[in-house]
Amino acid sequence: MNKPVAAPLAGRLITVEGIEGVGKSTNLAFVAAELQRAGHEVVLTREPGGTPLGERIRELLLHPEGEIVPMAELLLMFAARAAHLEQVILPALRSGRWVVCDRFTDASHAYQGGGRGIPVPAIQMLDQLVTGGLRPDLSLLLDVPLEVSAERQAGRGDRDRFEREASPFFSRVRARYLELAQAEPERIRVIDAARPLPEVQATIRLALQDILVQ
Ligand code: TMP
Repeated sequence: MNKPVAAPLAGRLITVEGIEGVGKSTNLAFVAAELQRAGHEVVLTREPGGTPLGERIRELLLHPEGEIVPMAELLLMFAARAAHLEQVILPALRSGRWVVCDRFTDASHAYQGGGRGIPVPAIQMLDQLVTGGLRPDLSLLLDVPLEVSAERQAGRGDRDRFEREASPFFSRVRARYLELAQAEPERIRVIDAARPLPEVQATIRLALQDILVQ
């Protein structure tokens, strides 16, 4: 079991979240580049994934065929997270590196909580058990209306198990993400990602400045 993270960590954890088609990949690379430009050593990683075990769990989770019941889905997300935290995230943070992570526990709240309807206390319990309640120093929630997300996804073949979900699912996921942001506005910055990329990245740069000067 991962112990609660008591001592302040030398590095910072920054996560990027959002529903499908919000431009996560481009902006993750941008965040990493900005932090490197500011002189930090950066580890760019993702969830589910980031370790050999995590990547195998990711394949199971994203494979389009076969049913995975919601509780099994949640437990697999946290199983991957346990390995990722212990083998990648915490060692990096302890050594002063900055970790930029494509999704983290907020995604479990949004997808398994909001999307699948798993009660919040079950997710909180696992979060406590696995991460000790570790919160990112900054989370960028890239937000677009559902229609924009669907438009950007349209025409893409090979959809994974999540991408095959219908729009009410993503509507619930997006709503839960926005609720999380409302509850923790300092940590979770909502970025209107429907705007042109230079504007989106200017907003991201501002959010990063806050944490770079801390
Ligand atoms: P990605 O393709 O954006 O990297 O993410 C893989 C999928 O996994 C995405 O549809 C969101 C989902 N996911 C969850 O449902 N719960 C989680 O805790 C995480 C980290 C991801």
